[in-house]
Amino acid sequence: MRAEDNELLTRVGPGTPMGNLMREYWFPIIKSEEVSTDGSPLRFRLLGEDLLAFRDSDGNVGIIEPYCPHRRAELFYGRNEECGIRCVYHGWKFDVNGNCVDMPSEPEETNFKHKVKIKSYAAKEKIGMIWVYMGDKSPLPELPDFDSMRLPEDKLSIRIALRECNYLQALEGDIDTAHLGFLHLGSVGASNFDKKSGENYLSQNKAPKYKVKNTQSGTMYGAYRDAEDDTYYWRVARFCMPCWTMPPGGNLLDHIIVRAWIPIDDHNSMFVSLSQKGGKPLDNLKGGAKLKGIGMGLNYEENPGSGFLDRWKLKETRANDYMIDREEQRTETYTGVKGIHLQDQMITESMGSVSDRTGEHLGTSDQMITMTRRRLINAANELAKDGSVPSGANNPNIFHLIRSGGMIINRELNWEDEVQVRKDTAVWPQGADV
Ligand code: FES
Ligand SMILES: [Fe+2]
Repeated sequence: MRAEDNELLTRVGPGTPMGNLMREYWFPIIKSEEVSTDGSPLRFRLLGEDLLAFRDSDGNVGIIEPYCPHRRAELFYGRNEECGIRCVYHGWKFDVNGNCVDMPSEPEETNFKHKVKIKSYAAKEKIGMIWVYMGDKSPLPELPDFDSMRLPEDKLSIRIALRECNYLQALEGDIDTAHLGFLHLGSVGASNFDKKSGENYLSQNKAPKYKVKNTQSGTMYGAYRDAEDDTYYWRVARFCMPCWTMPPGGNLLDHIIVRAWIPIDDHNSMFVSLSQKGGKPLDNLKGGAKLKGIGMGLNYEENPGSGFLDRWKLKETRANDYMIDREEQRTETYTGVKGIHLQDQMITESMGSVSDRTGEHLGTSDQMITMTRRRLINAANELAKDGSVPSGANNPNIFHLIRSGGMIINRELNWEDEVQVRKDTAVWPQGADV
């Protein structure tokens, strides 16, 4: 990859081409419960901008620039009271839309308060998450319509974790099916799975063939390998604009999951997974056996602090080598690192906070990654050139009935037809909003 392309893909701050592309979309960056009515404000960062979130007396969420426009004191230390946040330096007060609603340090007749505004961004709440939009479109675009967002509350699992590297290399781990048999299942043999299961075929053949394809919502791959004499086992996964993935575990028709790799800044991203509860990445383990090293749990740092990058930090980090157990690696598991998420975390963070892609050597198993990069580069360039609105930014329903997963189908059948989930074939849990 050319150095310029790597720059274009990975830089997300204000005014950058990829930053502008990202600013066409909404991001679920805060859990609703992280800010309470008249409670403490919350520092966070998104697309390279430091921000402050607070919930006012009416329950509305404000997303504002964190520094007071008077003399730049930090509003984090302010009082969240009576429908606004008040800077404790000289008492200026701002509402959720950034209007200055009180300026007790100036004489009433100056009218100065009507001339001062603090930068604010739009927020919406859905599925227990606060979604933030940092673009300038008016009216506001709609939220994306992923199937996960139609799950009833009691069936939706939300998992969040900070990843200390650029969003793209984190995301690329999700659309790289080749690593599953090594990083996660390197020490798991076919004998651990039921004989006619996809995972069994997968563990027998670690070099599948691939098809990749641009779609309306992003990109998609199908990795296929022999199943029985007349069937293939296909694993289909997707990338959805601009930073979402759908991994291939589970069965295509009832697998409801989407994972965001939200760019926090150039060097950090936030993983937010929205999935149907109870789904496991590896079904069909014999007798429901639990295999060491492939759990899904996350351990959070107990005293993470309140800084812009302190939310949803894990206990295992690069600083403690992800608590790798070398003895276990020698004798029991492939990596010695506990849990699928953490194994991915270790590997993607190990590339450096922004991977230098000029030093890569891509093979056939990397076609999906190449196509996805190209898709993002083209979308950013087209937006910069003539303002072309990227996929899904103003037609969020293109994400509806888009799913990923495994399927064992007759060798004669066309995989692209078989991955189309229709209204009458999609499987939903009870209570879903369909
Ligand atoms: S710095 Fe905030 S009111 Fe003066
Ligand atoms: Fe992985």
